[in-house]
Amino acid sequence: MDLDRRARARLLLRTTPGAVDYLFEEVRHLAGDITRRPDGLTLDWDGPLRPLADVRYFSGAAVVLDDVEARAGDPDGVFAALDAPVRFRVAPVGEERWDLRDLLSEKFGWVNDAGDWSVNVERDEREGLIAEIGPLFYPRRFGELTRAPASTTPVVAAVMVRLAKIEPGQTVVDPCCGAGTLLVTAGQMAEPGELLGFDLMDRWVEAARENLDARRVPCVVARGDAAALPLPDGSVDRLVANLPFGKRVGSHAGNTRLYPALLREVRRVLRGKGRAVLLTEDKRLFRESVQRTHGLRVVKEIEFTRPGAHPSAYVVTSRRS
Ligand SMILES: C[S@@+](CC[C@H](N)C(=O)[O-])C[C@H]1O[C@@H](n2cnc3c(N)ncnc32)[C@H](O)[C@@H]1O
Repeated sequence: MDLDRRARARLLLRTTPGAVDYLFEEVRHLAGDITRRPDGLTLDWDGPLRPLADVRYFSGAAVVLDDVEARAGDPDGVFAALDAPVRFRVAPVGEERWDLRDLLSEKFGWVNDAGDWSVNVERDEREGLIAEIGPLFYPRRFGELTRAPASTTPVVAAVMVRLAKIEPGQTVVDPCCGAGTLLVTAGQMAEPGELLGFDLMDRWVEAARENLDARRVPCVVARGDAAALPLPDGSVDRLVANLPFGKRVGSHAGNTRLYPALLREVRRVLRGKGRAVLLTEDKRLFRESVQRTHGLRVVKEIEFTRPGAHPSAYVVTSRRS
């Protein structure tokens, strides 16, 4: 896709509820007529797509097909920026599915290819027909990571890194790093001086190392226990972690031991003005554990919603800061 060519369209940007404000903040100077919805934004875009493609707070983008022929035939539209011929599929959108397929291939020369498409026509509850743009999906813009079963959603990772407010040169630690999504995102969005990751399981340490090496993000990853970190007191500026929720990873009973121990470690290793951004769905236990950890407090909570899960990212700081 040519991201430097003019491309105009009404776009739907989809994100995770909880990330909409961050997405809005990032695009409000770049686009016109922005409308919020719980899972994203619609907006008017007119210009090269590169500045939009660089934004991490949306998972996918689609052209609103209010007038299919006008949009498909627009020489300055988003489809004209795609590699030719445009490869597409039409999802089961209703009766017009096959007419749409025939129109797009016969009138516009697009190639119907369900296995390798850059345009997916589907139906959105609010906008009606939309065309998802394959090259604007998050993994196509920022690269696919090897994932652990409970890996952090990339958009959530981006919001967590933003909440961490990492300053250049700071020491950043993920004590439960899994396949390293947060470490990669922190290394790419900020300029940490030192990036360190720990996980109890060798296979995730290995996966994190692969993900980091593939993106040339300098980081030390090692087997380690978040309840007994191999780090000196007061040596860490920022801590980010997607904790075991007690669903796919760990258990609530396990968390009743892990969370208090991990929070004691957070208090011990953080410097005075340090901050930790910790994601969990075992929320009551987490809040109670923070309250019982003398010296720590929650200063912000952002809830993310996705099918079957409502985790929150908690920003935790020292009471003195
Ligand atoms: C929700 S996953 C993290 C996912 C990770 N952010 C990613 O994107 O792949 C939680 C991780 O914590 C690890 N873990 C559980 N208990 C731990 C402990 N006591 N110390 C270190 N890691 C632990 C698990 O092995 C798992 O990889």
